[in-house]
Amino acid sequence: MSANVQEAADAAIEPVSFVRVPAPEPPTSLQQLIHDWQLIKHREGGYFKETDRSPSTMELEKPQKGDSSKTETVIRNQSTLIYYLLTPDSPIGKFHKNINRITHILQRGKGQYVLVYPDGQVKSFRVGFDYKIGEVSQWVVPGGVFKASFLVPNEEFHNGLLISEVVVPGFDFEDHTFMKGEDELKTIVGPEKAAELAFLA
Ligand code: GUN
Repeated sequence: MSANVQEAADAAIEPVSFVRVPAPEPPTSLQQLIHDWQLIKHREGGYFKETDRSPSTMELEKPQKGDSSKTETVIRNQSTLIYYLLTPDSPIGKFHKNINRITHILQRGKGQYVLVYPDGQVKSFRVGFDYKIGEVSQWVVPGGVFKASFLVPNEEFHNGLLISEVVVPGFDFEDHTFMKGEDELKTIVGPEKAAELAFLA
């Protein structure tokens, strides 16, 4: 078994109604978790909290801002760790990418991920603990690949999805890019696929 997402079973992209039209607020139990753990709203959607940032640092070589034909060396923490939560009132994590690969570990609930590779390939898979129906509980998203996620209804965790994410080198906004709406999606996957995925852009 591998955490390589290319090997995960393909899933059709069929969001349920509360993904298209979010609930006004989270169910009480998820509201309690958000409060107790002091999770905050993430700009991409959902809630999160950084729970660890390595005090040690490392160098990262990355394309230079303004001239990507050159590289520059920057300093980053060695790793970061977050909780990330999707809830019926914030059921979508919109497309974004990081230059570094990100390791995801499922904690509770169910969801679906959609990855868009630079060559236009689209990969979508379910996350959950029921491996017999193709759900995965650990997955690694390569650097430079756009990622979005949305909730799949589940009784086990009150229609929520709770995961942990580890980034090496540690998270820095300089390494992170949001997709520029449906227009950018269209240029990567073409108009037909972009229309299907527009709710995630
Ligand atoms: N701050 C804002 N977004 C993030 C994220 O995705 N990870 C971490 N570690 N910090 C953040």
